[in-house]
Amino acid sequence: MDIIRRVDEMMRWVRERHAAGEEIGVVPTMGYLHEGHLSLCRLSLADGGHTVATIFVNPTQFGPGEDLARYPRDEERDLKMLRELGISAVFMPTPEQVYPPDYVTYVDTAGPSQGWCGATRPIHFRGVTTIVAQLFHITQPNRAYFGQKDAQQVAVLKQMVRDLKFPIEVIVGETVREPDGLAMSSRNVYLTAEDRQVALVISRALQLGRSLYEEGERSGERLTEAMRSVIAAEPNVRLDYIGVVNRRSFRAADVVLPMDLFIGAIYVGNCRLIDNLDVCPKVYPLRD
Ligand code: PAJ
Repeated sequence: MDIIRRVDEMMRWVRERHAAGEEIGVVPTMGYLHEGHLSLCRLSLADGGHTVATIFVNPTQFGPGEDLARYPRDEERDLKMLRELGISAVFMPTPEQVYPPDYVTYVDTAGPSQGWCGATRPIHFRGVTTIVAQLFHITQPNRAYFGQKDAQQVAVLKQMVRDLKFPIEVIVGETVREPDGLAMSSRNVYLTAEDRQVALVISRALQLGRSLYEEGERSGERLTEAMRSVIAAEPNVRLDYIGVVNRRSFRAADVVLPMDLFIGAIYVGNCRLIDNLDVCPKVYPLRD
């Protein structure tokens, strides 16, 4: 496994593979890897060609007062996990490589980046699209893999790929969960044992949305209200948002359709957690 820290070296590596007619799949991450990240690497490995994982804690997607400084990192452990998977290369640039002192260019989207996480974290998606556009240019992948866990990020990145005509297939992997239903996240390390129990309320609320839909409820407003009251009943949680949206536009669904998504974000202890659930499992192919 090649470990590459410089942009020019990564671009040379990619040029050589493409010249040999080999394809590349990229899995962008911020490191502190868990089974969610690894599942995306496995999807890429199964598709053949080379798999390149990127590890970069991207400062431009963190707002002031967010957790950039304390974001968990463990380079050695990450590299060990990736080596065991058998991927071809890891790109882990320094911040100066990505954002030199005179850096001024950003990729900004509207549409699906508005509202929800985009409302709570106003500069977040601009940072995500900017870094992912850079990573796409540097790694020139045929395929790029993202997790459904960050459903709004998926909608925003697919929009960017369509709008800017990146010749890249975006492949979405299902959310990997702990046995009790908590979606895996690098940020789960911020949770105390009690917080961790409390955090389960978000997947419970989304599950309730799905059960009520299955019983015939189609009103976005009523489904949202029912999910909101599950969160409200848990004293140690602060609600950020909860709702039902169209998975492509991220507009709130008035009349809920099978391909829509239940989405939510909560604060537990000193941690903000997001999660989402398909309204109707399996009707909508994740690998569209
Ligand atoms: P990060 O949070 O490290 O996540 C990297 C990738 O893993 C994302 O595509 C994310 O959706 C996916 N992922 C995280 N938890 C998952 C889970 N439980 N199941 C399945 N997939 C999961 O998302 C980012 O980094 C950054 O915003 C990035 C795209 C790398 C840009 O900086």
